[in-house]
Order: sequence, then C-alpha cells, then structure tokens
Amino acid sequence: MDRIRIVGGNELTGIIPISGAKNAALPLMIASLLTDDTLTLENVPHLADVEQLIRILGNHGVDYSVSGRRERQGEGYSRTISFTARNIVDTTAPYELVSKMRASFWVIGPLLARMGVAKVSLPGGCAIGTRPVDLFIDGLQALGAKIEVENGYILASAKNRLTGNRYTFPKISVGATHVLMMAATLARGETVLENAAREPEVVNLAECLNAMGARITGAGTSTITIEGVDSLSGARHRVIPDRIETGTYAMAVAMTGGDVLLEGARADLLQGALDVISQTGAEIIETNSGIRVLRNGSGISPVDVTTEPFPGFPTDLQAQFMGLMTMSKGKSKITETIFENRFMHVQELARLGAHITLSGQTAIVEGVSKLKGAPVMATDLRASVSLVIAGLAAEGETTVNRVYHLDRGFERLEEKLSRCGAVIERISG
Ligand code: EPZ
Repeated sequence: MDRIRIVGGNELTGIIPISGAKNAALPLMIASLLTDDTLTLENVPHLADVEQLIRILGNHGVDYSVSGRRERQGEGYSRTISFTARNIVDTTAPYELVSKMRASFWVIGPLLARMGVAKVSLPGGCAIGTRPVDLFIDGLQALGAKIEVENGYILASAKNRLTGNRYTFPKISVGATHVLMMAATLARGETVLENAAREPEVVNLAECLNAMGARITGAGTSTITIEGVDSLSGARHRVIPDRIETGTYAMAVAMTGGDVLLEGARADLLQGALDVISQTGAEIIETNSGIRVLRNGSGISPVDVTTEPFPGFPTDLQAQFMGLMTMSKGKSKITETIFENRFMHVQELARLGAHITLSGQTAIVEGVSKLKGAPVMATDLRASVSLVIAGLAAEGETTVNRVYHLDRGFERLEEKLSRCGAVIERISG
C-alpha cells in the first residue's frame, strides 16, 4: 500500500491549481442517467471516486469518453468527459459497487425518474458516522414512489411516473437534495423542496439540469422549485472549482507560513471558511486568477468553529482546521454538528504532539509551539489530509499510511505541494 512521506518545516510558496470539485462532479455524472443524449462535463477531476463512479455508471449502460487531451488550465489536470446513457441496461446498483462509495446510492433518483424502477444497495462510504438514507426514502415516497427494503437493497418503483409534490426535509441533506431535485425534473407537475441544502454543488447541479432542459428555480436557497418536464436533453457543463481543496491548501499555508496563489479558486464558494482562516492571522486576497493566501512570522491565533450546512463552516474542512489549531497560540473549541463520528484524526494528530481533548461532539485544542513528525494513518479522506497539513508544519519526518483515502479526493496532492517547496513524496508498495 502506498504511503506519503513528508519532511516538515518548509514554508509553501508558489501556485497551486485548484481542481474541479469531487462533490460537484459526482452528482453531475449521475445526472447523465436522466437523458439518452450526451452530457459533456468539463473540469472533471482525476480521482479514485470519479473512476469508481464511471465503473458504476458503466454497469447501468452509460458509455463515456474522455475528449481530447487533458485540459491544462494553469497546471490543472482535470478532464472533459462525455457520458451517454442511451440504453439503460440495468436498473440495479449492486452492493459490491455501492458499498465502496456512498454517493453512488444517488443513482436511485435518476433511475427511478427515467425508468420507473430502481434497485439500489444500501450505501457504504467513509467511516464518519451512521449516515442513514431515511430522507431519500421519505422524499421519494412524497413524489409517489413505492419503496421496499429487502436484503440490504432498496426497491423503488413508480410505474406511472413520479408526481410533483411539496416536501420539507426534516434535516438538511446534500445528497437527498441532489436526488430529489434530479428525480423531480422528470416528475409530472411541480415539486417544491423546502429546507433544501444550499451548497454550491447543489447550485452547480441545478444549472446543469437546467442546461439539459429542466425547469428549476431557487437552487442555492432553502426552497427549490422544479417544474417537471417530459424529457431532458444533453448539455455541456463545467464542474465548479473544489472549495474543500481550496480551503485545505489555504489552511496548509496558514500553518506552514508562505505565500501561495490558489489558482482558479472562487472565494464565494467558501467565504465562511476563508473568514475563519483570516481570523487565525493569515491574509486572504481575492485576485482575478484565484485566491492568494499569505502568512508570515506572526503566530496562529486560536479561533472556535462549529460545523454547519452551507454557508456555515463545512464539516469537510473540520479535520484540516483542527490540524491548523494544534499550533495556535492558545485554546480553541471545534464542534462537529454534521457527522457524529468525525474525530478520528484526533488520536493521530496526538501522535504528532498535538494536545486535544474530546468532550462529546466538541474537541478542545490546546495549541503547542511545535509538532514532531511520526508515522500516522487515517480512516477517511479529510482526516488523512489533515495529517498531511500537520506533517508539513511538523519538525522531522511524517509518514501518512493508507494513501488511497487521499486519492479519493485530492488530485495530485504531493505534486501540487512539492512544487510549492514542500518535501513530500509518495512511496509505493
Ligand atoms: C455530502 O455527503 C458530501 N459528499 C460529504 O463529503 C459532506 O461531508 C456532506 O455532504 C456534508 O456537507 C458528497 O457530496 C459526495 P448529507 P452527504 O446527506 O450528502 C444525515 C467528503 O469528505 N442524513 O448532507 O452524504 C447524515 O447522516 C464527503 O467529501 C440523514 O440523517 O451528506 C448527516 O448527519 C464526506 N438521513 C447529515 O444528514 C439521510 O437520509 C448531512 O449529511 C441523509 C443524511
């Protein structure tokens, strides 16, 4: 299994191109199931999760082609990929595929809307909490679907097409918002989704669906209205830059010091997190080519954060922020409200010398003046990258094991960081 070896202590200086967002690309790829025409997506990041979803879609009969050469926006590596679901050959998403990635469960929405039937295994994914699917079931039932759960599978059917309805999410869910919005595009009549997720990835998906002929308004607010249409066509659409990758590298610079341009990044996608990073003492400057992050000399100020749905501080940056806070000049409080089990990085950060105590959903971080390198390992994507950030700032050598987690969500991580002066390399085997 590959490992990442880091020798910490260097400042980061240079340019980091920001890739297309994993969490936008995945639902957009799934939206290709809604039409027999071709959906072309630009700026799709080259990640293990994307490759896995290509395999899952292939199982349903979706053809794909990577057009032309890899795009070189700055030094980005994202690609343009066309997806065509002309013939859906299978409406079952089997356990072997779905258990590897939770987002693949989302095929249930388009399959049900277009084919009137779907059989989808209950999902797997990162070990960050129980992550139930009750909201998907409730919401699809509100659109008239018949749902049964049998042997670990959800059997969904809507023989005479889904029917628009008003549905209020009892809890904000990004995935359930994606799924109900996709399903409602082909339903009969109007659907109104209340208490919907407002994440930029939801907006990106709605824009793509509208380009395909859907009639969606209100995405990005908590009320989304979808006027159902008979069919959707193909389109060409661009994946937004990855706000979590942006925030991660911004925190890396805030921790190591230096001056980095996050090329192609968009501040409006993570303003809440950028405000918090500025409060820690880093300078954030929006430029016409991206976001510049600088920190020199001054120590890191402690800041308290609580994770919240967008536009609040994202749970997907909580681990990285904790990494940053381990070297602050005081005590900070980090509260996780989205996933109940998202503190697995705590004991690994402690191996690097961090002082963190956990009390329920809150971590109290007492900043230390230095961290010391050590072998570490993490059990999810964002936790793994928090260890990379901490390793970059720690004295000496840190080895991060189980690199496959990083490959799920960070395109060419070690290459991007080493170009900015980090000593970081992948060790194979
Ligand atoms: C998306 O997951 C992201 N994944 C996650 O990113 C992200 O952490 C999360 O949204 C929150 O922002 C993708 O976009 C592929 P949710 P999702 O449904 O949609 C509960 C990463 O590291 N819930 O918004 O699965 C759920 O348990 C990943 O890139 C129910 O109770 O998250 C959680 O507590 C990890 N019932 C809360 O809602 C349901 O039916 C929010 O989850 C569905 C969700």
